[in-house]
Amino acid sequence: MYSRYYFLLSGEHETLPKAELRAILEAEKIEYHVIKDMDQVVLIETTNSPEKIVKIIKRASMVKEAGILLGFHEAESLDQIRNSARNIDWSFLANKCFAVRAKRIKEYFSQVKSSFVEREIGALILSKEPSSKVNLSNPELIIRVLLTENYSVFGVKLAELDTKQFLQRKPRSRPFFHPGVLSPKISRLFVNLSRPRKGDLFLDPFCGIGGFIIEAYLLGLKCLCSELRWDLIRGAKQNFDFYKFNVLGVIQADATKIPWIKADAISTDPPYGRSTTTLGRNVKDIVRDFLNEASDIIKKNKYLVFALPHTVDPFEVIPSKAFELVEKHSMRVHKSLTRIIVVLKRR
Ligand SMILES: C[S@@+](CC[C@H](N)C(=O)[O-])C[C@H]1O[C@@H](n2cnc3c(N)ncnc32)[C@H](O)[C@@H]1O
Repeated sequence: MYSRYYFLLSGEHETLPKAELRAILEAEKIEYHVIKDMDQVVLIETTNSPEKIVKIIKRASMVKEAGILLGFHEAESLDQIRNSARNIDWSFLANKCFAVRAKRIKEYFSQVKSSFVEREIGALILSKEPSSKVNLSNPELIIRVLLTENYSVFGVKLAELDTKQFLQRKPRSRPFFHPGVLSPKISRLFVNLSRPRKGDLFLDPFCGIGGFIIEAYLLGLKCLCSELRWDLIRGAKQNFDFYKFNVLGVIQADATKIPWIKADAISTDPPYGRSTTTLGRNVKDIVRDFLNEASDIIKKNKYLVFALPHTVDPFEVIPSKAFELVEKHSMRVHKSLTRIIVVLKRR
């Protein structure tokens, strides 16, 4: 039987949150059909259970919330939002207490106040299902109203991303710190884009002080990592010990001569030739040699994710016989550096 779900995505980047959602759905082998793809909101239909949908949120970094879809309708005014709510069967709320939480995405529905929508929809639900009750502090169910583009989306919230976890793991809270490290949230995103499944062998061959491995380990992956600099690889080990993570392999090695023989997923952040070291070598050569080497290690039909500075053309470094380019995303780092995140699939 088909069920319909909504996903609320982070608005911090235009393409990456949707890319992460697609990647996790694929990694978790969830077959689905997109009903509607809107700004920060995606609606899908699938035979998978709510428990499976909750798992997506548990491993995500930019997919903020998921829930059961009750309905979606074209709407522009409060009246139209109310009419949409009238078309929904609210009998599932019989004898239950609920709270309505509305969210306007970006500048959409600027003439409508979220708090007003919450009150109005709450009152409408009470009139349609009089045995239900409003409880704002401890509701059994949260009714979600998402307002994006010219649509109102109604759902029952299932799960929300725990964003505090990323702050708790901030790189400066670990015993060994180095400025090249990416935030836990972005590290988690990189790992997810390589579409690993629990138990998979994951590799980061430019691991620095181990930020990607920490996120990969938390996803239940078997982790291998290497790094050229002794001091950093020792620092990575110190960080893994701090979390009591039993990382399968941590060694000092050149990513253009990878010491590992196979991997189900690779995600890595090579040097950009600026703040992080290249030990005198050109970034383009390092990445090209790394990708050639990695093509022998990553299994067929599996994914490799890496970043490049915008000054290097990905097509100049990707061995196209070995890899299919799945997608690339630009992420501004600062005024003079944009990071290009590239997702490849081994042919
Ligand atoms: C952008 S940093 C990676 C940061 C990492 N994601 C972390 O969490 O710390 C790039 C790393 O690549 C390392 N590196 C540079 N050339 C390398 C090579 N040929 N092989 C392996 N590592 C290399 C640098 O020492 C640096 O630590």
